[in-house]
Amino acid sequence: MKKYSNQINDELWDTQIGNDLSFAVELLSDDEVVAIPTETVYGLAGNAFSKKAINKIYQIKKRPFSNPLIVHVADVTKINEIAKDIPKIALELLEKFSPGPLTVLLPKKATILDEVTAGLKDVAIRIPNHQLTIELLKKLDFPLVAPSANPYGYISPTKPSHVYKQLGSKIPYILDGGSCDKGIESTVVGFENGKIIIYRLGVISLEMIAEVSKDVIIRDTEKEKPLSPGMVPHHYSPHTKLILTDKPEEVVKFYKVDEVAFIGFKNKLKVIPAENQLVLSCDGNLNEAAQNLYHALHLMDDKNLKVIIAEKMPNEGIGKSINDRLTRASHHKKE
Ligand code: TXA
Ligand code: MG
Repeated sequence: MKKYSNQINDELWDTQIGNDLSFAVELLSDDEVVAIPTETVYGLAGNAFSKKAINKIYQIKKRPFSNPLIVHVADVTKINEIAKDIPKIALELLEKFSPGPLTVLLPKKATILDEVTAGLKDVAIRIPNHQLTIELLKKLDFPLVAPSANPYGYISPTKPSHVYKQLGSKIPYILDGGSCDKGIESTVVGFENGKIIIYRLGVISLEMIAEVSKDVIIRDTEKEKPLSPGMVPHHYSPHTKLILTDKPEEVVKFYKVDEVAFIGFKNKLKVIPAENQLVLSCDGNLNEAAQNLYHALHLMDDKNLKVIIAEKMPNEGIGKSINDRLTRASHHKKE
């Protein structure tokens, strides 16, 4: 007999979307994976202590096992259960930015499986700032590993519909917490001899971290080495070719007007049809631009046109993080 009413066979699901916390708890306690809302992007969550759940996450995302997962906990007290030797500066950052879009890399305790950290000594930990997911974490007696709920390399989801489009039938349940407030991923930081190292820029900008300590540098690890000739680094990418530019009105001239989708910062382009373009923030607000970024990429990708032209954001604060995502989205696996 099928255990869950919406299971089609061993691998396929009639994916449900809803806000039934008890159902999410039941599935997660049974080593299944569930998409969960956070303030940044939707995550593909599983029991952090279960090899079976971790394997399912990698399999569903088609993610290489060398790319480790973030462990999500309900509050700071839970961090002591999974990490040790926590530097003072890490506690200061957590104090200022948690719950919120900050992920800290800390020496792992033995309770954390090597499968979570890809064999590394540090575990990535974050306290998401989303009421439904905090409630869920409080009902569970284990933390949740949760990468972004998209197939490896493609656009991250900020709405249940994005998850459904990309992972529908692969997962039983999408916990619906509405649209994500922040819209891009957390900032990942590690610590070396009292210094803060930013491994991934995200919602929390370099400037915001520098307010806590000036001893901070950016070290970029998401730039993958090409896996084989013909492949170039790519991430957060639409299926459609994406060109990032600060001169969209020049680039658009190389295409027919109905071949182009456009994502602008404040203004649309006059020359192409209105329905093939979106602006991220009419008021020029970078936080609003971040919030709308992935939705705009999903919508413009769904148009299936020849090219998406995206306008560069001002390279400051969260604008730098948006430009980072758009730069990676503009690297394609194949031309
Ligand atoms: O906002 C977020 O962080 C979202 C939500 C769902 O929480 N999660 C997310 O996870 O973006 P993911 O797996 O898509 O990205 C995690 C990033 C990757 O760049 C990964 O390499 C890095 O964090 N990371 C995870 N564990 C690490 C570790 N132990 N050492 C270094 N980097 C790590
Ligand atoms: Mg991701």
